[in-house]
Amino acid sequence: MAEDKTFYITTPIYYPSNKLHVGNSYTTVAADAIARFKRLTGYRVWFLTGTDEHGQKIQRQAEAARKDPRVFVDEIVAWIKELWEELDIEYDDFIRTTEPRHKEKVARIFTRFYEQGDIYKGKYEGWYCTPCEAYWTERQLVECNCPDCGRDVELIAEEAYFFRMSKYAQRLQDYIEEHPEFIQPISRKNEMVNNFLKPGLEDLCVSRTSFDWGIPVPFDQGHVIYVWLDALSNYITALGYSEEGSIFETFWPADVQLIGKDILRFHTIYWPIFLMALDQPLPKTVFGHGWLMLQEGKMSKSKGNAIDPRVLANRYSSDALRYFLLREIPFGQDGIFSLESFITRINTDLANDLGNLVSRTLTMAERYFAGVLPEPSAADENSDSELRLLALETPAAVESYMDQLKLSDALAELWKLVRRSNKYIDENTPWDLAKDPAKEPRLGTVIYNLIESIRFIAVMLRPFMPRTPDRIWEQIGLKDDSALHNWASLLEWGAIKPGTIVARGEDLFPRLNLLAEIREMQGGQPAVQDASGGNDAEEPEGLISLEQFQQVDLRVAKIVTAENIPKADKLLKIEVEIGENDLRQVVAGIAEYYKPDDLVGRQVLFVANLKPVKLRGILSQGMLLAATSEDGLLSLTTVDTDMPPGSRVS
Ligand code: MSP
Repeated sequence: MAEDKTFYITTPIYYPSNKLHVGNSYTTVAADAIARFKRLTGYRVWFLTGTDEHGQKIQRQAEAARKDPRVFVDEIVAWIKELWEELDIEYDDFIRTTEPRHKEKVARIFTRFYEQGDIYKGKYEGWYCTPCEAYWTERQLVECNCPDCGRDVELIAEEAYFFRMSKYAQRLQDYIEEHPEFIQPISRKNEMVNNFLKPGLEDLCVSRTSFDWGIPVPFDQGHVIYVWLDALSNYITALGYSEEGSIFETFWPADVQLIGKDILRFHTIYWPIFLMALDQPLPKTVFGHGWLMLQEGKMSKSKGNAIDPRVLANRYSSDALRYFLLREIPFGQDGIFSLESFITRINTDLANDLGNLVSRTLTMAERYFAGVLPEPSAADENSDSELRLLALETPAAVESYMDQLKLSDALAELWKLVRRSNKYIDENTPWDLAKDPAKEPRLGTVIYNLIESIRFIAVMLRPFMPRTPDRIWEQIGLKDDSALHNWASLLEWGAIKPGTIVARGEDLFPRLNLLAEIREMQGGQPAVQDASGGNDAEEPEGLISLEQFQQVDLRVAKIVTAENIPKADKLLKIEVEIGENDLRQVVAGIAEYYKPDDLVGRQVLFVANLKPVKLRGILSQGMLLAATSEDGLLSLTTVDTDMPPGSRVS
């Protein structure tokens, strides 16, 4: 690996004020795909993410939860780290702004700014938006509310330190004009220049005195450093800025800083000016992506419309969720998340295109060649060379789109090869070739080419969907042949050896029934009006018919074993008996309420016909029924008298 090929990418650091939603995960999944892609193509990568833990908002939320802010953020940060693990986010560092390595450096940066005359003490009178942690002048407010998020602002009058933004404004404006790649997508550049720089940049208030959950100003007790100066510095403090021998020298300036468009102003105006004041180069690109929306508007933690990414990843696999996020929304634009578009993507791209390609090919390899990869011995035909050429061209096309941060286009390019491979099957109709023994060399060539094409696809797929390639290696017999998983192995066609043992495995992505999924996710409510007029306007909402209720197979079940699941504090793995020799395994979220030993032998009510799902990789084949109260009590439901396991409940 060439030492000079380095790549530093960052995500915003998230407020641990609440659990993250799919919208927040979007940035991090995109950053992870880019980081993985760069690693795969030979770069020495540093991928940083983390949490932005100070500020009034967090302090207030911790107070509302009657927790010490430290304890409050620790809990959420643990949840966030688990989320990243479930979504296969392979970060190199996770910075928390409450860590000493960050706090010490921010305090020194503040002092330096003060000593070199960039910061002065004054009095702040103006408006503050706590959710955005942003200051506004009267003129900037929109109908007396925050111009960014539309929420209430508070009038603040306090002694404060200010940063002389005006000193650097012209330099920044020139820089932006001379470096068209600095603010991306390009449309966002004009927004920043016209709305903020051209009207004249006001000095920025960089300290607060009305709360204390922050980094103290080292030379003035009672002041804490404004959360955005604290937060933005994370991108360099995490690299060990100002420490001798740190990786800061290797990785700064950042190659790509990914952020949502709502925090562009902080990253393309204040952040570069802080860096100029520190005499440091600016990041090469700050990319402001669009928002993930719901039909009814932006998804956000505070609106209560957030979709939990862990629910989706557990039910549909994290690879499917990653694929959807990266493919569905052109990177840079807003995109709508709906269960319908999500399931449609899974069914068309993953089940029909990719899944079918793999299962059809492997079925034929088993049927016609007993699972031994044949020699490609027949003369080249048109369809062979077309497939081969496309496969050989695809890596460069994907790389070019990745370099432009066009992730969706990169995937679309890869899917051209997936679709071309399926077409290759239809063109060559292997089932007809198989009827004529004289055509065996041709049949062998077709199967060989398909498996080699699948190998190409799996190599390129990994940055986007880290788990699926392993399942493909398993099926095409390359599990242990990591040389054939490399980017360099795509330079030539024909690297997989004839004679390799292949075996069809489980379908990669079983097709889903859209209506059933929507019903399930909506808690059993029919998602659309059915043709029989069942959703009559006269009828109260939320009622189900007797037939619908009878679809649920309710049984008395006897708990046979119960055990804790490592690293999953809330879950238990339980085996229940619902009839002679009919044992079911379930993963139940009741570990906080029951000890495993207390459960064994109990009779509980059980839903026996739920579609199996995997929770934390463990198969769950049903559901125990439990009552929960609003104040957090939980009680398993049971029967009055002993009943034979498997008795029906109606
Ligand atoms: N803590 C600041 C960032 C400091 S970076 C030095 C912050 N945190 S946040 O948790 O509120 O938001 C983090 C990121 O999530 C932002 O980039 C924001 O744009 C992004 N998103 C929040 N809601 C989103 C969607 N609905 N869709 C896409 N991204 C979204 O701001």
